[in-house]
Amino acid sequence: EKEKTLAMIKPDGLSGNYTDEIKKVILESGFSILRERVVRLDEDGAKTFYAEHSSRSFFSSLIKYMTSGPVLAMVLEKENAITDWRALIGPTDAKKAKISHPHSIRAMCGLDSEKNCVHGSDSPESAQREMSFFFQEMSSG
Ligand code: CMP
Repeated sequence: EKEKTLAMIKPDGLSGNYTDEIKKVILESGFSILRERVVRLDEDGAKTFYAEHSSRSFFSSLIKYMTSGPVLAMVLEKENAITDWRALIGPTDAKKAKISHPHSIRAMCGLDSEKNCVHGSDSPESAQREMSFFFQEMSSG
């Protein structure tokens, strides 16, 4: 059974010109890219997308980072898309990823625990919410 997930290349990934390399890894790993859209998040949008982190100490810094430039949102599809995309991007902290998961996407293009270049939904519920956020036509599921 195929599954969909939301992938996002964050401002540092786009400005660092990692898009083509990341898409190559996505396609070589068996995902289809069903939709894609470049979006410049405003403060309200970033706060809505990351609402679950609103009480964290890094929240205001995260919002500043995510509004610093455009992002590329994509809907990826394959079997086990949610888990497999999370595995492909590697741990949140890109510094750690470079050591423990050297072939991961965050090891390739991330900087630290905040500027980690890419995002992936962590559950089916998050995937549905995050796909609807960027692609309103997917709101019904
Ligand atoms: P992401 O997987 O998109 O989900 C939440 C984001 O918050 C995360 O990637 C990072 O960009 C950021 N983040 C998570 N943990 C930290 C942290 N300890 N310090 C700063 N930013 C963080």
